[in-house]
Amino acid sequence: MFDKILVDIHSHVLPNLDDGSKSLTESLEIIKTFHKLGYRKMITTPHNQQGWFNNSPEQIMDALNKMNIAISIHRINILLEAASEYFLDDLFLELLRKKKLLTFKNKYVLIELSPFILDKFLFQRMDEILQHGYIPVLAHPERYIYFYQRKEQFHKLHEMGVKLQLNLISLSSAVSTELRTIAEYLIDEKLISFCGSDSHSMKNPKIIENLPNETTYLEKLIQTNPLLNHTLM
Ligand SMILES: [Fe+2]
Repeated sequence: MFDKILVDIHSHVLPNLDDGSKSLTESLEIIKTFHKLGYRKMITTPHNQQGWFNNSPEQIMDALNKMNIAISIHRINILLEAASEYFLDDLFLELLRKKKLLTFKNKYVLIELSPFILDKFLFQRMDEILQHGYIPVLAHPERYIYFYQRKEQFHKLHEMGVKLQLNLISLSSAVSTELRTIAEYLIDEKLISFCGSDSHSMKNPKIIENLPNETTYLEKLIQTNPLLNHTLM
């Protein structure tokens, strides 16, 4: 089933750049798992967040090159590329205005928000990203609790051209029922353009491996939502 997704667009598999993989061995184990499932490309996305993770494009590309050497030594038949997961903060706005963002397919920018506090300028910021010629991809919309009672906001984002990226683990029993219900709502409403693993370690790959045994929503996502992952191959 995962061969229909083909490309993962959200992970933290470059060792020691952020809160993701802690070693080359751990990274290789994660990447091998996705290859075994049928994925043929991973666009990995180290964090950029002011005061927490400051990963320049040069640092990310340097780490990517090293990882790609390890992938070829271990003969894993998968393409690894890199972008970044940007927290919507002042650092991001500075990089946006300087056009110094790491994107995928030259236009998509992965954005994350505070899980608890709604950014009152959210829609203006998304509009500014679009005005700069990028397409914002909102990471794991199902995790932002302030949308739970205001589900029309998901539709508003979708209608303005923001792509929504679901975390696959949000369809599993590893998350709260409330979160899972929101993830299923987004699929029922056909609002999901991308899915991602958000792998920081082997935890998410193991949950994702078992997902077809656990839920029918994975198949529903692939069959009924306007998924774009495969177009990035
Ligand atoms: Fe992430």
